[in-house]
Amino acid sequence: MSNKELEPLSDPGLPAHAHRKADHDEAAAKRAERQVAILFMLSALGTVLFIYSYIWIAQDIYVYVPIIGTSNAHQLFLGLGLTFSLFFIGAGAVHWAKTLMPDEEVIAQRHEMRSSDEDRADLIASVKENAGAAGLGRRTLIKRTLGLSLGLVGLSPILLLRDLGPLPSDDLTKTTWAEGVHLVTDPGNRRLRPEDLEVGAVAHILPEIENPAERSLNDVAKDAVLLIRMRPEDFRLDAEKLSWTYQGIIAFSKICSHMGCAVALYEQQTKHLLCPCHQSTFDVPTGAKVIFGPSARPLPQLAIKVSEEGYLVAAAPFNQPVGPSFWERKK
Ligand code: FES
Repeated sequence: MSNKELEPLSDPGLPAHAHRKADHDEAAAKRAERQVAILFMLSALGTVLFIYSYIWIAQDIYVYVPIIGTSNAHQLFLGLGLTFSLFFIGAGAVHWAKTLMPDEEVIAQRHEMRSSDEDRADLIASVKENAGAAGLGRRTLIKRTLGLSLGLVGLSPILLLRDLGPLPSDDLTKTTWAEGVHLVTDPGNRRLRPEDLEVGAVAHILPEIENPAERSLNDVAKDAVLLIRMRPEDFRLDAEKLSWTYQGIIAFSKICSHMGCAVALYEQQTKHLLCPCHQSTFDVPTGAKVIFGPSARPLPQLAIKVSEEGYLVAAAPFNQPVGPSFWERKK
């Protein structure tokens, strides 16, 4: 909009424009400037509280808060820090605009959608002129505290990137499975002997760990295995993969090699495993080769054997990453 089209408001039907105190009283303007600076400082303190809570307040500390009751201190102070940091930046900007930025009521004449080149150049000049009038150059206290609060608030999302965890391509190469780790039922946490599974049966399996209550969801997602029993003569596997089975029992990672859903539907008649997400279908007798759907590779097979006590155990870790394969694989 061209400055030429902005005319001072002089409609006799409207009340006269009331000027603010800071427009003609330098002491009031200084006071308003300090108030804006305080609001930006509060925002900066909010971000510091957020960062402090994220790094130094343990996740298992609880505090009592009137009205809402017992709360997790880590979550509570993270939330308060982020709220203060964003709220006070907004409050400072609004207060700055209401008390110190140019306060002039004008009538804007309507014009065609696209401005002429002359008007566009005029706009740029006007923006530069009004940026100066907003006092950013002159009011150094506001400029510095605004810079501090904006600079700090930008740190919060960077900090949260850490919560995304390790890169999947690295993380999925490591599971709890290792030679001698017992296979236990999920749920139930019960060790299995080969005779516990009839031909055609399927069991949902996790690796045995000392304290199952401490098993993280991340580990459950990576370690989950399906155990299937078939007649040994039904396998069509090469010698190596056949040696990873035990008397017709075969184990596969349960994480779909397409996008990581749980492959949990076993069709006993066809001996197919089906992923419910995008219908990838894996053929168990041939080592879970993909026979339909978007998945690009078989489900990783876990080598199993029987321990001296007669329980099913892993014979080795997975020999390839489990889960989706849409990134570059190292193996
Ligand atoms: S996640 Fe299994 S087919 Fe897509």
